[in-house]
Amino acid sequence: MKLLSVPVTIIFLLHHCGVGSLENYYWREYVGRVPEDAIVAGETAAHTNVYIGQGCVQNGGLIVGAIFPGVKEVHVPYGGDKKLDKYVKILCGPQDNFYWMSANYSNLHLEVIGKHAVIGGHEHAHGYMNIGRISYGGDIKVGKVTSYWPGKAYFYFVDNDYYWREYVGRVPQDAIVAGKTAADKNVYIGQGYVKNAGLIVGSIYPGVKEVHVPYDGDKKLDKYIKILCGPQDNFYWMSANYSNLHLEVIDKHAVIGGHEDANGYMNIGRISHGGDIIVGKISSFWPGKAHFYFIDNGSEKHVDSYQVLMYNGDNFAIDPRIKK
Ligand SMILES: *[C@@H]1O[C@H](CO)[C@@H](O)[C@H](O)[C@H]1NC(C)=O
Ligand SMILES: *[C@@H]1O[C@H](CO)[C@@H](O)[C@H](O)[C@H]1NC(C)=O
Ligand SMILES: *[C@@H]1O[C@H](CO)[C@@H](O)[C@H](O)[C@H]1NC(C)=O
Repeated sequence: MKLLSVPVTIIFLLHHCGVGSLENYYWREYVGRVPEDAIVAGETAAHTNVYIGQGCVQNGGLIVGAIFPGVKEVHVPYGGDKKLDKYVKILCGPQDNFYWMSANYSNLHLEVIGKHAVIGGHEHAHGYMNIGRISYGGDIKVGKVTSYWPGKAYFYFVDNDYYWREYVGRVPQDAIVAGKTAADKNVYIGQGYVKNAGLIVGSIYPGVKEVHVPYDGDKKLDKYIKILCGPQDNFYWMSANYSNLHLEVIDKHAVIGGHEDANGYMNIGRISHGGDIIVGKISSFWPGKAHFYFIDNGSEKHVDSYQVLMYNGDNFAIDPRIKK
């Protein structure tokens, strides 16, 4: 999943219809066959249509993602890439009634005044989201716009340039190496589910099935662990600290490592500690207080300065077209 603070185009309904607007677009069930009246959001680099999907994330809400013809599942951005293959819906209506308008995270709430931005779904914890798209690596990507945060209406979408694989003790070949231990063993990036808390980042050591993640102490997890994978060359580490992180990542792409239900998305950090590289969570959901939390010999610690995992495989160009 990616978080971009680049301009995005948002889908709007042309005629402001007030209450009657429900008749102008609707969500149909989607089980792999695209209805004739599905709204086309754009094309992939391979010239196949991209449609607008909506999936239900348990305890999360109804989240927007791209639908590709013939592909039954939809991947939606919600604390990572959520793959959904049931109860998926596809946005339908008269194509001519829609247009896309450029906006960015800071001006969206002003731009939509007196217009009708299409609602794409909602998050239980936050409210309604809009539907965005960008042109990215030759493809059109569809995703959610966090319009429930005025001034912070970012565009999130799922990109499979990196992904979390299941981890049960065997490190996949494409796992991203975060560094080495003092004993010259690789350290990888793990993510584990802490009940009632969220998806939290920690270190994975080859051959060790459990992951220890920092959440109100050392949480040892041995089920439902994921490991971050993708093309190693597309990643780099950038130095940051608790007070400047939110400024340093503007217009860059910091990798999302997970989320805390109560707080929001976290980034992935690392430090060198006693000769080891240790991976942990950055509390980036608190701008100005984005500390690095990690597990050191069974206890949770935090530090002020660290390196944050960044992604540079981005090859996006903004689609300036406004379609009617
Ligand atoms: C958002 O867009 C507006 C209007 O195009 C522009 O003036 C503003 O600088 C942009 N803001 C950011 C943060 O990109
Ligand atoms: C954070 O890093 C910036 C840039 O390197 C530096 O200017 C600033 O003093 C640092 N802040 C703290 C609190 O360490
Ligand atoms: C790690 O923790 C154990 C038990 O708390 C302690 O006995 C040991 O000395 C610690 N090791 C280091 C290197 O601090």
